[in-house]
Amino acid sequence: MDALEALTTRRSSPRLSAPAPTHEQIDIIVQSALRAADHALLRPSRFLLLQDQALTRLGELFLAADIADGVELTPAQREKILNKPLRAPTIIVAIAALQEHPKVPTIEQEYSAAAAVQCMSLAAYAQGLGSMWRTGSKAYHEIVRSGLGVQLNEKIIGFLYLGTPCGPLKGLVEHDVNDYLSLWETD
Ligand SMILES: Cc1cc2nc3c(=O)[nH]c(=O)nc-3n(C[C@H](O)[C@H](O)[C@H](O)COP(=O)(O)O)c2cc1C
Repeated sequence: MDALEALTTRRSSPRLSAPAPTHEQIDIIVQSALRAADHALLRPSRFLLLQDQALTRLGELFLAADIADGVELTPAQREKILNKPLRAPTIIVAIAALQEHPKVPTIEQEYSAAAAVQCMSLAAYAQGLGSMWRTGSKAYHEIVRSGLGVQLNEKIIGFLYLGTPCGPLKGLVEHDVNDYLSLWETD
């Protein structure tokens, strides 16, 4: 797919199934992440690849987070939470590893990590894969963080669900650039 076509037509796929991205496709996705803008080239992102049993384990962490918070759950609700990471055959967890730097505030390092997630989403789409960037409260929960080995100086920027889109892609919403772009005129 042409780069501009990917940039102007990318959309998320909430429903994903097997086949999972191949090793080669994952490689291109992560290479793309490493092209994200990065002030002072700090490389503030790292990524975890979750497949198979690891997805089940992530669901267990999601459930453990709710149980730790005292959330009352019916058996059906427990099952739904356990199954959340199984909505795709692959998840890449994008983590921002933040460091003190004299010129690069940590918020800029988070921006860079977020740009990396967008790059991965585009790289997936350009290869005919589907993706969906998710966070939710679990991304910030200590049980999930520590279960995934996220350190104190790190933040989960997103769970990028990856796989084969189920059915046709959703329609594209047309945007008028002029609703978002204006000429800044000086006096
Ligand atoms: C930081 C971030 C977190 C997100 N978390 C969720 C989420 O937890 N659940 C969800 O349904 N969409 C989430 N989204 C939005 C979707 O990834 C997606 O962008 C949105 O549904 C719009 O669809 P589109 O990407 O096709 O335009 C998140 C987006 C961002 C940037």
